[in-house]
Amino acid sequence: MNPMKQAPRKLLSSLCSKCLCGKKIFLFFIMILNNLVLETKLQRKKTPFMANINENYLKLKAGYLFPEIGRRVRAYSEANPDKRIIRLGIGDVTLPLSKSIVEAMKKAADDMSTSQGFHGYGPEQGYDFLISKIIENDFKPRGVDIGIDEVFVSDGSKCDSGNIQEIFSTDAKIAVTDPVYPVYVDTNVMAGRTGEAGEDGRYKNIIYMPCKAENNFQPDFPTEKPDLIYLCYPNNPTGMVATKERLTEWVAYAKKNDAIILFDAAYEAFIQDDSIPHSIFEIPGAKEVAMEFRSFSKTAGFTGLRCAYIVIPKELKGKTKSGEAVSINTLWNRRHSTKFNGVSYVTQKGAEACFSEEGKKEIKANVKYYMENAAMIQKGLNEAGFETFGGNNAPYIWLRTPKGKTSWEFFDFLLQKAQIVGTPGSGFGPAGEGYFRLSAFGKREDVEEALKRIKALS
Ligand SMILES: Cc1ncc(COP(=O)(O)O)c(C=O)c1O
Repeated sequence: MNPMKQAPRKLLSSLCSKCLCGKKIFLFFIMILNNLVLETKLQRKKTPFMANINENYLKLKAGYLFPEIGRRVRAYSEANPDKRIIRLGIGDVTLPLSKSIVEAMKKAADDMSTSQGFHGYGPEQGYDFLISKIIENDFKPRGVDIGIDEVFVSDGSKCDSGNIQEIFSTDAKIAVTDPVYPVYVDTNVMAGRTGEAGEDGRYKNIIYMPCKAENNFQPDFPTEKPDLIYLCYPNNPTGMVATKERLTEWVAYAKKNDAIILFDAAYEAFIQDDSIPHSIFEIPGAKEVAMEFRSFSKTAGFTGLRCAYIVIPKELKGKTKSGEAVSINTLWNRRHSTKFNGVSYVTQKGAEACFSEEGKKEIKANVKYYMENAAMIQKGLNEAGFETFGGNNAPYIWLRTPKGKTSWEFFDFLLQKAQIVGTPGSGFGPAGEGYFRLSAFGKREDVEEALKRIKALS
């Protein structure tokens, strides 16, 4: 007999040698043992049939920036429940939706309750009533002619700027600024377009274009040839903008290198300087080399409603391996209508209201409020001895951390000493180390209080 099976029997019989219950306990014990062995065998058998995962996800650096900020803030407020924390970190808006948007959505909801006004699935690309207003208001006045079938309405620029890479080859080389909006990088990592992240946090096979005070946060043109170039102006996180001259150079660079520019203009509404382009299509020839992302999120407070759009001109072409030209607009249309079922009628009616005379006035007033915050933050920080960048044409202020403090050290310092939450620059890329982002989307009273606390530190 197997000695493994004999051992428990000996043990039990010595414990309970004069009664029969020893035998029953022994049998029960063996049953449990058998079940355990069977379960392990089944599990072993199952392993080969589990689906293989996309291992590119394992390359992603642990902890996306904002969850880590959330963790530190939670830990601090649990330890200090009496302290009031002011959040100037994550770039969410704080002003409520303006009246004309809400009224338009209420009316749209009423439409939906009638048989004539009910709307089921709409066009995946968006309703013409919204697209024509976008073209009339966002592009025509800037001398840009856009066709109705060149606009794709969506539920956000995060999704759009993350999903767009799907229609390009997996060996396409991407170029990003450093620091950068993390979505551009992470979605390419997921798609397998990169290698592992190195010690410095940079992924292999991505072209990084450092933006620092030394180059006035304007990246140099890459020497290695990229296929896709992500540009974001006004920039998150640095709050800097690109001049018409600089964008003209980018368009020429893309043409020369057969590259496509993915231009993220999510913050264009915050531009105050009339000489700064709001759209890359204001640059002659840009339609052949660029597409543009726009969002109602920050412009009109739609972060919780969700509405955005991409403009992909018909002139924009990619190519097959054999060198045949393919329309990017056609590819995206196919992708969008296969994987997306349109933004709700009610939301699109709300977005349309942004272009009414009343809507435009209300949105302008909200943008003014945030930009006044930005000016106050800049002024207050400068008075407290900080060096600041951005904030003139964007709702973000990028500041240099005090000497000797890393971005995360300054984050902890500001949280613990002044109960203010900002965003560490290094979370946007290694070139962001030594910098820190404050958002102007807070409430006025919070901005004032935060500045008081910062000044009291110095
Ligand atoms: C540069 C940039 N692009 C896109 C987005 C996402 O916008 P949306 O709310 O439309 O998804 C953000 C949001 O923070 C952003 O900073």
